[in-house]
Amino acid sequence: MIIGVCCRNNFFPDNEGAGFVTRILDQRRSLHHQLATQRNRNDELETQMGHMQALANLGLTSAMIAHEMNNVLTPLGTYAQLALSHPEDKQLIQKTLQKTALNARRASKILQSMLAMANGRPQAKASCNVEALVKEIFQCLARDFSKDSITVVLEIERDLAVWADGISLQQVLMNLILNAREAMLEAGGLLTIAAKQFDEFVRIEVRDTGCGIAREHMQKIFEPFFTTKTEESEAPRTGAGLGLAFCKRVIQSHDGAISVDSELGHGTTFRITLPIP
Ligand SMILES: Nc1ncnc2c1ncn2[C@@H]1O[C@H](COP(=O)(O)OP(=O)(O)OP(=O)(O)O)[C@@H](O)[C@H]1O
Ligand SMILES: [Mg+2]
Repeated sequence: MIIGVCCRNNFFPDNEGAGFVTRILDQRRSLHHQLATQRNRNDELETQMGHMQALANLGLTSAMIAHEMNNVLTPLGTYAQLALSHPEDKQLIQKTLQKTALNARRASKILQSMLAMANGRPQAKASCNVEALVKEIFQCLARDFSKDSITVVLEIERDLAVWADGISLQQVLMNLILNAREAMLEAGGLLTIAAKQFDEFVRIEVRDTGCGIAREHMQKIFEPFFTTKTEESEAPRTGAGLGLAFCKRVIQSHDGAISVDSELGHGTTFRITLPIP
């Protein structure tokens, strides 16, 4: 606009005016060119970032699958070992075979469910009885809680149901229960699993009277690979830091929420809310 006005008013002598306009046009062309190059570069970087995010997501999902397989297979190994050292104990062998069958079925369902989640496919949800889900978890675990001086109390409303992928929800609760047990291993304590309906949702709580979580760790515990169970710590085993990240991912994919309250030295409560069927 300005260029047109200047020329029409003969503001510049002819040659100077033409030179000025040419320079401006050249600059404009060059700027357009630079802009187009930058846009192409931006597009390339965005595509690369998308690929890298997809790869990181795949890596995290694979690590989570390995983590959950480990949770299922560890009790099997323990039972099989026990049965091998007591070949005369028919009852133990029978129990081991039952656990093997149960956990092998679970392992295959967990794989299906996690692969669906990795592919962005919806998990197969159905109405699940909370009490039955929780009781089955204790059947899958190898070691009796009473052997570690841990009392387990279930406070679950009768016939309470949630709308969930049962196997994934069981893995979530199993992770919370295993964490609670590890937090109480030193001194024993009380593990309470409570579930109640509030209007349109169900609240499930996993409470322990264990070591509690330090204030500075509270913000980090749901991050993938955050763990305080390292070789330098006094923890009974080293952790992967994937249990709670898995819980958060599953609960979010159910349109639910997970939160935590804890007091160092006194115990921890994990709270999950899920929609009712
Ligand atoms: N009930 C609990 N009591 C005390 N600390 C807990 C409890 N649950 C979780 N934490 C803390 O949160 C951290 C992260 O837990 P998360 O289950 O994700 O990983 P992890 O138990 O360390 O390892 P893994 O991946 O094998 O489960 C733990 O290392 C621990 O510090
Ligand atoms: Mg854990």
